[in-house]
Amino acid sequence: MKKIVLSVILLSALLMQTDIYSHINSTDLLEGCGSCHVGHGKSNEPMLAKSEEDFCYQCHGTELQQNEMKAAGKLSQTAQLGNIANEFQKVYRHPVVDGFGHSPDEQLPYSTSNEINHAECVDCHNPHQKSQVGSQKYFEVKGYSLSGQYLESSSSEYEVCFKCHVDRNEVQTSSSNAYKQFSLINQSQHPVTKASTTGGKSASLTKALGPGNVMKCSACHTNDDPNGPRGPHGSNNRFLLSGNYDIEPIMDESSYAYEFCYSCHSRASILSNESFPLHKEHIVGDPLKGIPGT
Ligand code: HEC
Ligand code: HEC
Ligand code: HEC
Ligand code: HEC
Ligand code: HEC
Ligand code: HEC
Repeated sequence: MKKIVLSVILLSALLMQTDIYSHINSTDLLEGCGSCHVGHGKSNEPMLAKSEEDFCYQCHGTELQQNEMKAAGKLSQTAQLGNIANEFQKVYRHPVVDGFGHSPDEQLPYSTSNEINHAECVDCHNPHQKSQVGSQKYFEVKGYSLSGQYLESSSSEYEVCFKCHVDRNEVQTSSSNAYKQFSLINQSQHPVTKASTTGGKSASLTKALGPGNVMKCSACHTNDDPNGPRGPHGSNNRFLLSGNYDIEPIMDESSYAYEFCYSCHSRASILSNESFPLHKEHIVGDPLKGIPGT
C-alpha cells in the first residue's frame, strides 16, 4: 500500500514537472473528460452540450453560468475562473460572437473574399492542449511560422496570430500585415519574433522582458482592465490595446494621450530626452514658438 501511495506521489511529481494539460490536469474538472463531453454520441461528433463560445462560457462565462456547472457537479465549488464572456462585450474585440463559425478542416488564411471573418475560441486555444512544458508555453492550434511555413501545432503565440494576420482577404479591410511588420529583415521592431538586441537596456523601458528577451503580441493587445483575465479577447481601447493611444495628428501630449506607450516606456525618460536630444521637442512641440508636437 505504502509503495503504491509513494509511486502515485512520485508519478504526479513527475507529471507536474513535465507536461501540464490545462484542462485535463485540472482538479477543478470533477468529471474529467465528462465535465465537457456528455452522453454517448454519434460518430464524428465530439459530444458537447453547447456549441462554440457558449460551450466555453459554461465555465469561463458569468458567475451564473459557472454556478450551473458547479451545481451539476462538473466544476468544483472552489474554482475561480475569470469571466471571458464579458471581454467579448467590449467595443474592440475579436469576432468570436459576431463573426462566423470555425470549421475543423478549414485552412487559414482564406484565399477568397467569399469566406468570412471569424476568430473562435478554438482558433486560438486547443481544449486538450498541453499548455506548458517547463517554461515553454504551447498553443497546439494551427499557425504560421516566421518563415511562412504552415504549422499543425504552434508553440509561440505569434505563430497563432500569423494564421490570420497575414495578407489575405479576411482581415484586409481594417488591418495591415502584422506578419510583414515582424519579419526577420526589419532593422528595428519590438522584440516579438526575435530577441531584443540590447537585452531590454533601452533607456526608457520600465518593464522586464519575458524569458529569452522577447515579448508577446498579447503584451500589448490585451485586456484594458489589469485585474481582468489576460489575452487579446477584448478591450475598450482602440486596436485592442491595453491602454489609451491617441493617433490623431497634432494631439497634445499628456500622460493619457500616450498612456499605452507610457505603460512600458517611462514618460519622464522620454520627455527628458534620454533616448535622443530632440525627443521632447518632437512630441510636445514648442508652445512659446507656436510649434505643435507630432
Ligand atoms: C474543457 C473541455 C474538454 C475536456 C476536459 C475534454 N475535451 Fe475533448 N473536446 C473538447 C472540445 C471543445 C472539442 C472540439 C474541438 C474542436 O472543435 O476543435 C473536443 C473534441 C474531442 C474529440 C474529437 C476530436 C478528436 O480530437 O478526436 C475527442 C475524441 C475528445 N475530445 C476526447 C476527449 C477525452 C478522451 C478527454 C479526457 C481525457 C477530453 N476530450 C477532455 C473539450 C474538452
Ligand atoms: C467544464 C468547465 C470548463 C469548460 C467547459 C472549459 N474550461 Fe477552460 N478551464 C477550466 C478550468 C477548471 C481551467 C483551469 C484553471 C486553473 O487551473 O487556473 C481552465 C483553463 C483554461 C485556460 C487557461 C490555460 C492556461 O494554461 O493558463 C484556457 C485558455 C481555457 N481554459 C480555454 C477554454 C476554452 C477555449 C474552452 C472552450 C473550448 C474551455 N476552456 C472550456 C474549465 C473549463
Ligand atoms: C482565426 C483568425 C484570427 C486569429 C488566430 C487572430 N486574429 Fe486578430 N483578428 C481576426 C479578425 C477576423 C479580426 C477583425 C478585424 C478585421 O477584420 O480586420 C481581428 C482583429 C484583431 C485586432 C484589431 C482589433 C481592432 O479593434 O482594431 C488585433 C489587434 C488583433 N486581431 C490581434 C491579434 C493577436 C495578437 C492574435 C494572436 C494572439 C490574433 N489577433 C489572432 C482574426 C484572427
Ligand atoms: C509594443 C506593442 C505591440 C506589440 C508587441 C504588437 N502590437 Fe499590434 N499594434 C500595436 C499598436 C500601437 C497598434 C495600433 C496602431 C498602429 O498601427 O500603430 C497595433 C495594431 C495592430 C493591429 C490592427 C491594425 C493594423 O495596423 O493592422 C493588428 C491586427 C495587430 N496590431 C496585430 C499584432 C500582432 C499579430 C502582433 C504580434 C506578432 C502585434 N500586433 C504585436 C502595438 C503592438
Ligand atoms: C508591453 C510593453 C511595451 C509597450 C506597451 C510599448 N513598448 Fe516599445 N519597447 C518595449 C520593449 C520590451 C522594447 C525593447 C527594448 C530593448 O530591447 O531594450 C521596446 C522598444 C521600443 C523602441 C526601440 C526600438 C529599437 O529598435 O530600438 C521604440 C522606438 C519603442 N519601443 C516605441 C514604442 C511606442 C511608440 C509605443 C507606444 C505606441 C511602445 N513602444 C509601447 C516594450 C513596450
Ligand atoms: C485571437 C486569439 C484568441 C481568441 C479568439 C480567444 N483567446 Fe483566450 N487567450 C488568447 C491568448 C493569446 C491568451 C494568453 C494571454 C497570456 O499569455 O497572458 C489567452 C488567455 C485565455 C485564458 C486565460 C486567462 C488568464 O488570465 O489566465 C482563458 C481562460 C481564455 N483565454 C479563454 C478563452 C475563451 C473561452 C475564448 C472564446 C470565448 C477565447 N479565449 C478566445 C487568445 C485568444
